[in-house]
Formats: sequence, C-alpha cells, structure tokens
Amino acid sequence: MNINSLVDTVRALFEGDRGLLAMDESNPTCNKRFEAAGILQSEENRREYREMIITTPGLDKFIGGVILYDETIRQATGNGTPFVQIIQEAGIIPGIKVDLGEEDLAAHPGEKITAGLDGLRERLADYSKMGARFAKWRSVITVAEFIPSRGCIEANMQTLARYAALCQEAGLVPIVEPEVLMEGTHSMDRCRDVTEEVLRTLFNELFRQGVILEGLILKPNMILPGLTCSHQQSVEVVAKATVHSLLKVVPAAVPAVAFLSGGQSGELVSERLNAMNLQFKGRLPWSLTFSFARAIQYPALEIWNGKESNVPAAQQALSHRAKCNWAARGGEYSKAIESNGSVTASGDGSL
Ligand code: 13P
Repeated sequence: MNINSLVDTVRALFEGDRGLLAMDESNPTCNKRFEAAGILQSEENRREYREMIITTPGLDKFIGGVILYDETIRQATGNGTPFVQIIQEAGIIPGIKVDLGEEDLAAHPGEKITAGLDGLRERLADYSKMGARFAKWRSVITVAEFIPSRGCIEANMQTLARYAALCQEAGLVPIVEPEVLMEGTHSMDRCRDVTEEVLRTLFNELFRQGVILEGLILKPNMILPGLTCSHQQSVEVVAKATVHSLLKVVPAAVPAVAFLSGGQSGELVSERLNAMNLQFKGRLPWSLTFSFARAIQYPALEIWNGKESNVPAAQQALSHRAKCNWAARGGEYSKAIESNGSVTASGDGSL
C-alpha cells in the first residue's frame, strides 16, 4: 500500500475548497428518481442524464471528485468519448460506489446490512484499471424505539472497515459512509447518541482492521432531529451539535469529513454546512466538506426532464448548487450567492 498516494488523492479531491458530487445512484434508485420527476426509465436516459452532469461547464471549480455507479463508469457520451475520460480531462477525479446495497440483517427485524464484500478485491482491481481513484460504501442505520441494536451497528461497522482495508490495499481511497437515517420521529439528542455510538464503533473497527486513517474520507450524517420529529432545530443548533459530536469521536488523523445530504433540501444543507465552517473556522482538525447527491442534483434533474433542449438550464442549476456548497465549505455561503451567485458573505467581494 502506498500511503502517500492515498494522501495525495484526498488532497487533490478537496483542494481549492472543492467537494464531491455523488452521482452513483444504483439503477433502481435512479429509476425511482426519474419516476418521481416523470422521466422515462431507461438505460439511455440514465446515460444522457449522467452525460449532462459530467459535461457541465466549469464544474471542476467546485467539485473535485464524482462518485460513479458500475453502469456509469463503463458508459460514454453520445459521440463515443468514455465518461471517465471526460471527467479526468475536466480536472475531476473519478470514484466508484462498490457496495451492492442493503439487505435484511438476519435475526434483526427492521435492520439492514450492506452487501458486497464477496469478490470485492477483484472488483476494486478492475475499477482501478478503469481509472477510479477512490471508492464509496454506504451502511444504513435506522433509528426507532428499540433500534439500532449493537448487533446491527457492529456488523455494519466491521463490514465498512473490511471494505476500507481492501480499498487501501488496491490503492483506492475509501469513503466510509455510516448513515444514520433521518426518517423517524426521534429527537436530535437521540440522533446524536446513535451517531456517536456508530462512529466510535466504526473507528474501533477501522483500527482493528489496520486501516490508515490519513488515507480515508468519512461521510457521515449531520446531527438532526428525525424528519417527522415535532421539534425541529435552528441552523446554528444543528451546526454546533454536529461539530461537537464529531470532535468527540472522529480522530484528528482523518483528513476530511464529507457530509451526505440524506434528504435535506439543497438550501438548508448549504446553510448548515456554512454555519459549521463559519463558527468553527480554523479550529477543526479535519476539513468539513460535502459529498451530496440529491442536494446538488435537484433541481437540475427536474429541469432536465429527459430533454436535450433543457441541458444548458439543467447544467446551470447543477453548477449553482455545487457553487453554493463550495461557498459553504469556506463559510461564505449567503442569501446573495443563493439568489445571484455572488460571494459576499464575509465581505470578500464577488468572484
Ligand atoms: P444524498 O446526498 O442524497 O444523501 O446521497 C449521498 C450518498 O452518496 C448516499 O450514499
């Protein structure tokens, strides 16, 4: 394993305040998003949609890496140029989702385990040859009255750690994503307690499996009340709770924390990320950045609507959300950038 090359990849992914764009929805998930937007679900439409994303002009200013799905990493533009080549030539690093989704965890009603360790060493070697330099694996933890159980947390965190060790062996930077789901009526305190337990278990397992923390990216949820909790919290409270929890459980050797959006709206998640970076600027051991799917791709998906004539407007919308999050990473997101794209929050003038 070449640790320096892993460290270099992490640095390149996030340099210039850039973040990640997750465009790695599995075919069923992508089809579900298409269905909700009234777009025909087909391989060609998924290809055209992904082509729209990766050919967005100037995306490399805000996005350092894109996470692809197995179907997408093998695809090419309408004129036959491989997607990976388009991405690399744009100055963006290609990555790949390598988990195979969740299945029911035996003997644990209502809980899931992520599949995909079998044959992973060979798949990682193939993806590396195709140009991927980092990978992603998502574990999901559901919060309800009597769950998550220790059994579910330990099984999922050990799986994440074994995946991460295989990635580093193959020279790929692992994104480890233990997602405590927002769905539910639970309070923000409950989300905090579960998230801290999950992350503590994760870092124990990463240590036991010999994973080098300097060469990985943590992709956690923010500390939030459940989606249907009657008591929602302000942006500042969420920002503070999230950073305080991370400071307690995420070792300083980890270079980057790149949040998932988890179903938060585009504007709200930008505000929350911005508040964290603004309040804690210069006082954190890791960078706080983003690895969003829905929060960057919406509303571009709806504008695109499966029509080539809508591509420029959809690309503009995608670029706008990417820019808002790039600004939030520097604590410079504001209503002005949200409405007209200019960065003025800390008086630095427009770009
Ligand atoms: P969201 O930002 O839509 O939560 O997706 C992030 C992701 O990559 C989920 O695995």
